[in-house]
Amino acid sequence: MQRHARSFLLLLSLTAFWGTVARAQPDTMKAVRFHAYGGAELLKIEDVPRPTPAAGELLVRVIAAGVNPVDAKVRQGTFKQPGATLPLIPGYDISGIVEAAGAKATKFKKGDSVYAYLSLTRGGAYAEYAIVPEKDAAPKPKNLTHAEAAAVPLAALTAWQALVEKAKLESGQAALIHGGSGGVGSFAVQIAKARGAKVVATASTRNQEFLRELGVDQPINYRATKFEEVVSDIDVVLDTVGSDTLTRSYDIVKKGGIIVSIVDQPAKEELEKRSIRGAVFLVQPNGEQLAAIGQLIEAGQVKSSLTHTFPMAEVGRAHEAIASGHTRGKLVLRIAEEPAP
Ligand SMILES: NC(=O)c1ccc[n+]([C@@H]2O[C@H](COP(=O)([O-])OP(=O)(O)OC[C@H]3O[C@@H](n4cnc5c(N)ncnc54)[C@H](OP(=O)(O)O)[C@@H]3O)[C@@H](O)[C@H]2O)c1
Repeated sequence: MQRHARSFLLLLSLTAFWGTVARAQPDTMKAVRFHAYGGAELLKIEDVPRPTPAAGELLVRVIAAGVNPVDAKVRQGTFKQPGATLPLIPGYDISGIVEAAGAKATKFKKGDSVYAYLSLTRGGAYAEYAIVPEKDAAPKPKNLTHAEAAAVPLAALTAWQALVEKAKLESGQAALIHGGSGGVGSFAVQIAKARGAKVVATASTRNQEFLRELGVDQPINYRATKFEEVVSDIDVVLDTVGSDTLTRSYDIVKKGGIIVSIVDQPAKEELEKRSIRGAVFLVQPNGEQLAAIGQLIEAGQVKSSLTHTFPMAEVGRAHEAIASGHTRGKLVLRIAEEPAP
């Protein structure tokens, strides 16, 4: 009898132990974090608390996270993520599957495939789970894998907000995209072509063929040719390079045309002298624009420019590559296996 009671107690305590383990697991997740600003070696994979979605938010099981130049700048401490405290989970682009929807989140439900730009104030993409306000998410384009989709949000939204929102690029106009082979540039070229513009773009020697594949009408090798010597009367310049490239762009813009820079402030006096306009801006999350980009992707007018996928464990290599400023298209971090189609 006593022996039975002892076995029963043992069984009870074992059940309680495994219950605790089983409950603890869903509360944690693997994430890349850094505890101090500095080199790529500071990126570590750690067990951290899994976030919970507040009202209007989605908890997304991340399959892939996009890698952008700003990720490395935040890690180095040269770009301060507003309101951020250390340790920090970097990354701003995700593609994944909705795990849970917070109260008042009605557009998406558990199991939906979504992609999103998480905003520079939020971050947290390099993790098994991430939170995104529902209004900032859009359905993942059906013809893309999650890795291909994670390459899209921040870069394509930047290109969209520059060309469509700021410049109001129209069919028949001429657009010059500086850095056409990069993350932003590769989407900008395709969005400009989809809007019926004539597209000129700059990149180095090894990326000339890539520019042609993207649909560029006039590729320019900036290492061999000064763009201002071969182009003029441009309606819209998108500057992703800055400094000297921006300065040399003033003279090739048509009267009434515009230079949109994502890296440098165009000089007011230079713009006024030539009766041209200028703008600089910081990309904002926007679920509706991302859905519109998704439609162009599903229609085959824009393709994901993913060129390289890194496993989560090689996040340091991904950061070193993106910090070079000379990668082609987009880099992505694989967080989990792609689900079967
Ligand atoms: N303001 C915003 O909201 C915003 C948003 C996104 C990005 N950004 C910033 O914009 C910049 C570009 O971003 P990204 O994601 O496109 O970068 P990226 O993926 O690193 O691409 C950079 C591209 O620029 C090309 N390039 C380098 N020097 C050049 C030059 N002198 N002339 C022409 N092309 C040149 C490179 O091609 P080659 O290898 O052939 O030289 C490379 O393909 C970064 O500084 C990023 O932080 C700002």
